[in-house]
Amino acid sequence: MEVVILPSPTDVGRVVADAIALVLCRRAHPVLGLATGSSPVPVYDELVARYSAGVLSFAEAAAFLLDEYVGLPAGHPQSYAVYIASVFTSRVDFTAGSVHAPDGSARDLVAAAAAYEAALVAGSGVDLQLLGIGGDGHIGFNEPGSSLASRTRLKTLTQQTRADNARFFSSLDEVPRHVITQGVGTILDARHLVLVAWGSGKAAAVAAAVEGPVTAMVPASALQLHPHVSVVLDEPAASSLRLADYYRETYANKPPWQGL
Ligand code: F6R
Repeated sequence: MEVVILPSPTDVGRVVADAIALVLCRRAHPVLGLATGSSPVPVYDELVARYSAGVLSFAEAAAFLLDEYVGLPAGHPQSYAVYIASVFTSRVDFTAGSVHAPDGSARDLVAAAAAYEAALVAGSGVDLQLLGIGGDGHIGFNEPGSSLASRTRLKTLTQQTRADNARFFSSLDEVPRHVITQGVGTILDARHLVLVAWGSGKAAAVAAAVEGPVTAMVPASALQLHPHVSVVLDEPAASSLRLADYYRETYANKPPWQGL
């Protein structure tokens, strides 16, 4: 696992966009795993800027979201399918039908989760999976206690996650209780995992995930089991890491050709 500590969320966006640009350039049909929420927004803004400058194209790419709320009416602005279009995918040149999300409005949610998992497994695999981290250590919506081998399925959000996400809704009551999320095992199938976090509110969760024991109580700690993980942080998000100086020194002395 590589931990990269940068001065600002804008720098986080730039460095992660560099890694995504490499995937787009190296793979004929790149597959990106996209997270929603606030954390990846600096990455998406940077990718949109590069697309607008004519140096990046997503025309050959496919994308899979991590998760979707259950029960929001189609077109609800906080459904993750709509959210990702507004912050990223409709601002660049993904082709119609190339951005996939679990169907949180399906009548048969179990079948919808299984269909999403099957679509992920049937493809060529996710080249780069972007991740945020919840204050309780979740990735995707795998809340504490989630099996580290879990696959795409229905989950119930914790009160903490619902309260954290209430800022996107007009009240806490409107935040759905259930989601369809890729499992921890599904996420670990991606070839490169890139977790982004900024702000002091994420410091404890980041430290537990990166330097704590591997435990289902901190689902993000499962990243320690993956061979290619980059954790890209701003200074406040890195402020509880015991080995922060070592991570800084390692990154400062990394050959420039190496990338994330
Ligand atoms: C979103 C997702 C979640 C978020 C996490 C952090 O698709 O899977 O794990 O990444 O809840 O959310 P923010 O970035 O809003 O703090």
